[in-house]
Amino acid sequence: MRSLALKLARSPRTLFNMFTDRISTPCGLRLMGVMSGQGCSFTGAPAIKMVAGARIRLGDDVAIGSRLDANPLGLSHPTILAALMPDSYIEIGDGTGISGASIVARRAVVIGARVLIGAGACIWDSDFHPLNPDVRRQHPTRDARSAPITIEDDVFIGARALILKGVRVGRGAVVGAGAVVTRDVPPGQIVAGNPARVVGPVPGMGSGAAQVPAGGGAATQSTTP
Ligand SMILES: CC(C)(COP(=O)(O)OP(=O)(O)OC[C@H]1O[C@@H](n2cnc3c(N)ncnc32)[C@H](O)[C@@H]1OP(=O)(O)O)[C@@H](O)C(=O)NCCC(=O)NCCS
Repeated sequence: MRSLALKLARSPRTLFNMFTDRISTPCGLRLMGVMSGQGCSFTGAPAIKMVAGARIRLGDDVAIGSRLDANPLGLSHPTILAALMPDSYIEIGDGTGISGASIVARRAVVIGARVLIGAGACIWDSDFHPLNPDVRRQHPTRDARSAPITIEDDVFIGARALILKGVRVGRGAVVGAGAVVTRDVPPGQIVAGNPARVVGPVPGMGSGAAQVPAGGGAATQSTTP
């Protein structure tokens, strides 16, 4: 109680932020059709884009940071959740935390439980534009290649990592800061770099986890549950 009074005295914005985080953001999300479980918390308002028919579902105890001060690292933009096509969906599992990330689905992005998504990470299941300029001239986005992304439970995605179409990140894996992930990540492994490659096992998970040689495994198309 005393610390709340001190906070209020220090910053007149505190009341406004409390209103945004506890009332207007949860209500706004509900009005927009975002389904959320119990105990979700918001620091600042995420940017939501959801076309008619698309779905965005948050599990229980999901924490989403969107304000500059939501994370001591600083956020350069609010968390973005965008489901762009009538059959797109985004699912975020129980206890997952997201800081100023951009999660955009033309098909599907499915994120498991207790996943940590670092500041400025991007999870995009599409190229968003066709690669051929003649096709692009006819229509800037139609025929862009897209494939669902799955992030399994207990994954840790470092700040500013980029996870591209069709990738599955296996349970308990770690994606290094700034990595560009174009291929599946085996469970319990750490990947880093551009393009991301396995650099070793997650401490304490190495023996049970699938091993692939440095250089990565073969690409596989993800499926969604
Ligand atoms: C560059 C891109 C279009 C290529 O797509 P693609 O033809 O399907 O390429 P693939 O996923 O088959 O990858 C081919 C190889 O290039 C590598 N690669 C692909 N994209 C890469 C990237 N962005 N950075 C580094 N390497 C990349 C892959 O690792 C793969 O190498 P490997 O076979 O040794 O593993 C795509 O990966 C990409 O970057 N898409 C995002 C586009 C974007 O930013 N859109 C937003 C516009 S607003």
